[in-house]
Amino acid sequence: LQPKLLKGKRVLITAGPTFERIDAVRGITNTSSGKMGYAIARAAYEAGAEVVLVSGETALATPIGARRINVQSAQQMLAAVEAEVAASDIFIGVAAVADYYVLNPSEQKIKKDAHILTLELAPNPDILAGVSSRPNPPFCVGFAAESENLLEYAEAKRLRKKLPLLVANLVQNAFGADTNEVVLLDDHGETRLHSAPKIDIARKLMAHIARLYPSVKTD
Ligand code: C5P
Repeated sequence: LQPKLLKGKRVLITAGPTFERIDAVRGITNTSSGKMGYAIARAAYEAGAEVVLVSGETALATPIGARRINVQSAQQMLAAVEAEVAASDIFIGVAAVADYYVLNPSEQKIKKDAHILTLELAPNPDILAGVSSRPNPPFCVGFAAESENLLEYAEAKRLRKKLPLLVANLVQNAFGADTNEVVLLDDHGETRLHSAPKIDIARKLMAHIARLYPSVKTD
């Protein structure tokens, strides 16, 4: 039996894609499946934690032991996270959050005509950066999916978002797949997790978090 490394801890996880509405039937989303975040939710529960999963739209069953809050847009995801974060010890932002939302979504289905249609996009709030810059933040873990210069961009992101731990994965490996290959970046350096099913990566990640956690949490 694995020791319950995170017994008594509450872990808040975001997972899946967001969906930004254009009109009554259309929207902007991405190819995130939610599999990595859901695997992390399962691994966190196995490690003894209380798990809250804020999820965009996915085709996945709720992991055992997780309390799931369904959201659609990045702003809804932010609201759900803000409602839960104060009671959480660890925050893991796995969701592929849209960078932009549609400023002027249409209530009705937009009709086709001969004109050029312009969508105005405005930047979404950065949920993870908002959580990590709170006065007494939970232990914050971010994800970075890059298609090039992975470690350089990821470490820059870790420092910019003030994260004790960031999980770097190549877009080509991560999105939609059942396996993943990642590099964990923290103040001590890099830890490579070789290609493995997402649940194995998730369990190793939880063990890594449990090792780092006490040194960072100050209360
Ligand atoms: O900056 P970038 O979007 O690549 O950062 C990725 C990390 O930040 C992921 O952990 C993601 O869940 C989180 N994020 C967020 N809110 C956003 C954008 C990204 O929480 N609006």
